[in-house]
Amino acid sequence: MSLEWNAALYETLADPMTRWGTEFLGGLDLLGDEYVLDAGCGTGRVTERLLARLPGGRVLAVDGSQAMVRAARERFVGDERVDFSRQDLLELDVDEPVDLVFSTATFHWIGDHETLFLRIFDALKPGGRLAAQCGGEGNISLVAAATERVMRKDRFAPHFEGWTDGKLYASPEDTRRRLAAAGFVDVETWLQPEPTLFQSAEHLAAYLETIVLRSHVRVLPEADRSDFAHAVAREMSEGDGPLLADYVRLNMLARRPTS
Ligand SMILES: C[S@@+](CC[C@H](N)C(=O)[O-])C[C@H]1O[C@@H](n2cnc3c(N)ncnc32)[C@H](O)[C@@H]1O
Repeated sequence: MSLEWNAALYETLADPMTRWGTEFLGGLDLLGDEYVLDAGCGTGRVTERLLARLPGGRVLAVDGSQAMVRAARERFVGDERVDFSRQDLLELDVDEPVDLVFSTATFHWIGDHETLFLRIFDALKPGGRLAAQCGGEGNISLVAAATERVMRKDRFAPHFEGWTDGKLYASPEDTRRRLAAAGFVDVETWLQPEPTLFQSAEHLAAYLETIVLRSHVRVLPEADRSDFAHAVAREMSEGDGPLLADYVRLNMLARRPTS
């Protein structure tokens, strides 16, 4: 799956991710002087909230998309507490180990959580923590069902032959097992339903095309992408019902042992 994103559109559409990320961050204990790696920082909307909790700390903002890193860099011009790195998290490599790896709305985009957790473990100081939230088991299953129905339509079906969505909505149990296998202790994982209502079909279609169906639309000719997203939005609401996305977040907390 390509690591590139449309950062300008993401910045205008990411209210749900910012809301969940901010709430998740609010539940974390921070001293305020930590060195934190934001894994999949996007345009920096949640990173900004993270920095507000770190008056004496520093952040390494990491993302695989060049456009996202550029947007985050522009957001924090002049703030010496932040550094940036364009990296695939599956090959994460840091010069200086961090106190905390923080991440929101990112890990489900990465299919290989075994490798991801090993890379994160290695980036942490002994005793360092992982605190992450991403899409979890059952996430947007109604949206996925609506998408499948649109994918089967004659106009779109040929483009999806042999195509697979690389996302992973992991269960708390599998995640606990994978984190323990990577060497983490004090592991906690749990699901958090976050049903999310959209105000207009137009807004929902733009949101789907840019974010949720980002890897689907890539296989389509450019001229068909918006139609595909609009068709899924219509299918979700069955014409004129509420525009509801059945989000489920997976939260995970874990610690690298001190020795
Ligand atoms: C939905 S955005 C979340 C951004 C931000 N954390 C937020 O909550 O708004 C997902 C981000 O993960 C990044 N990402 C996805 N897969 C990645 C990978 N393998 N390595 C690095 N970044 C990745 C994307 O580039 C994107 O910026």
